[in-house]
Amino acid sequence: MAVAATRKKGNGKPSSKPTPRTNPKSSANPSPKHNIEAVRQAYYERIARHDMRPLWKVMDSLVTHEPATRCKPAIWHFGDVKALVMESGSLITADEAKRRVLILENPALRGESRVTNTLFAGIQMILPGEVAPAHRHAAAAIRFVLDGEGAYTAVEGEKAFMAPGDFVITANWAPHDHGNTSNKPMLWLDVLDVPVVNFYEASFSEDFDDPTQETKRQDGDSLSFYGSGVLPDGTAVTNRTPVINYTYARTRPIVERMMRAGNIDKHHGARVRYANPVTGGPVLPTMGAQLAMLPKGFKGEPYRSTDGTIFVCVEGGGSTEVDGTVLEWRSNDVFVVPPWKRYAHRAAKESVLFSISDRPAQQALGIWREEA
Ligand SMILES: [Fe+2]
Repeated sequence: MAVAATRKKGNGKPSSKPTPRTNPKSSANPSPKHNIEAVRQAYYERIARHDMRPLWKVMDSLVTHEPATRCKPAIWHFGDVKALVMESGSLITADEAKRRVLILENPALRGESRVTNTLFAGIQMILPGEVAPAHRHAAAAIRFVLDGEGAYTAVEGEKAFMAPGDFVITANWAPHDHGNTSNKPMLWLDVLDVPVVNFYEASFSEDFDDPTQETKRQDGDSLSFYGSGVLPDGTAVTNRTPVINYTYARTRPIVERMMRAGNIDKHHGARVRYANPVTGGPVLPTMGAQLAMLPKGFKGEPYRSTDGTIFVCVEGGGSTEVDGTVLEWRSNDVFVVPPWKRYAHRAAKESVLFSISDRPAQQALGIWREEA
């Protein structure tokens, strides 16, 4: 406050008015060590008035030898989550809420609307007959369908009807709306890169006048056009996938076939990475996802990487030990592994795990590491 007041009087530059100096020789304590500490402290206080700080006092916490995450391992069991989300259906409509979502907050980051330092996660529910109105935003989103069948997400003119295990992409600034024309509630996991966008202070959003967008393509068009080993003439090369919905019906048989063929990674099981079919790169520049099948009795070897990862148990049951904490999971449970914490999966029965993280962003910046 003192500096701000001083600056207002002059030409905007810090005041050149001399600040009283501490004379070490005038100290009552004759100890040289005490004197230098006192002089340093007075100096720190003086520079603080100019909005400066000595790097040597914060170097160790600023440039750590290893990642120092604030996140904790955590799990949300679907039984609890579903009951609580269903309760919200009687409290607010999807239209009123715009999106009826309960945020999954990392217990070490309460109040920050994030499940890892860089990712938002939430459980969204849409009841029969409801519409979640069209909008778009700078943050990219994925949906991973947990429960229900027959609700749709319309993205950039394609209406994708969703089933459990489907992985739906809404890229940066893509218009999207949701509707449920089935007779059952539908629940899915939303993951967005909101904390990344907000870190850069680059958030934009807009609502549309019409609650639903006009659709020009049929359900499954983009997967058929771009995800079948061919590309339509004129397909643009972009850093985001043109596929709207990677259906479970298409992806599950692939990991099963890999597992039966013995193509099983000792850490991750039989695993595929969802890819942008035009470039082979990740589906989005900020987020990447994988699907793995673990054989019954699988005991994964420990692994860690710098991308904090959100997992969903799609089928089966087992546990993941993360840095001494054991997370027991079964169908539709969501759990999170913090960055650079060693983890190992165990599958009590044949299981399928979906995972998503900020790995593509870290790789683009050249900072991603793993240790097997
Ligand atoms: Fe949205």
